[in-house]
Amino acid sequence: MIWAQAHGRVIGSDGDLPWHLPEDMRHFRETTADCAVVMGRKQWESLPERFRPLPRRRNVVLTRNPAYSAPGAEVVTSLDRALDLVAGEDSWICGGGEIYAAAMPYAHRLMVTEIDLTIEGDTYAPEIGPEWHAEPGPWQTSRTGTHFRILDYRRR
Ligand SMILES: NC(=O)c1ccc[n+]([C@@H]2O[C@H](COP(=O)([O-])OP(=O)(O)OC[C@H]3O[C@@H](n4cnc5c(N)ncnc54)[C@H](OP(=O)(O)O)[C@@H]3O)[C@@H](O)[C@H]2O)c1
Repeated sequence: MIWAQAHGRVIGSDGDLPWHLPEDMRHFRETTADCAVVMGRKQWESLPERFRPLPRRRNVVLTRNPAYSAPGAEVVTSLDRALDLVAGEDSWICGGGEIYAAAMPYAHRLMVTEIDLTIEGDTYAPEIGPEWHAEPGPWQTSRTGTHFRILDYRRR
């Protein structure tokens, strides 16, 4: 799974990302390039139309609505079906909060950007328990002035 979180595990606010961090967008693009990306219907809808489907990636969208249409993506109605679809491929779960929570038990790697910001949000990343381990990357400063670092967690 791949996400970026502010203090308190905040990942979203009002259907959107509550920050602008170009370096993290690039990190997301580079990490997920040529992989399958699995996302919830709300995350899909939060992508600007010109960026969806995410290019050079197999896009899989989860919804409980079997009639939902997401042009350029494959639509599935259960997490099991999504995971079956991408089995054997390099794939990333890329949100949002509902999908991260549901997929946490199946994940074997968590690529987490910690952002040094305190933000009021309404969507949260799952808690990362002691079964996970990462060597924190160095703190970096975005050209926007925001500090962030990247942690690549593996299951112990
Ligand atoms: N900081 C980050 O790295 C990051 C990454 C991604 C997203 N986000 C943020 O997260 C927020 C969106 O997250 P969210 O939790 O509100 O929504 P979400 O996880 O993107 O999507 C939720 C929707 O997914 C579908 N769904 C959920 N579980 C399902 C299941 N088991 N089977 C089938 N469909 C299922 C449902 O769609 P239907 O209602 O259509 O049935 C549900 O309403 C936004 O603010 C976004 O910007 C942040």
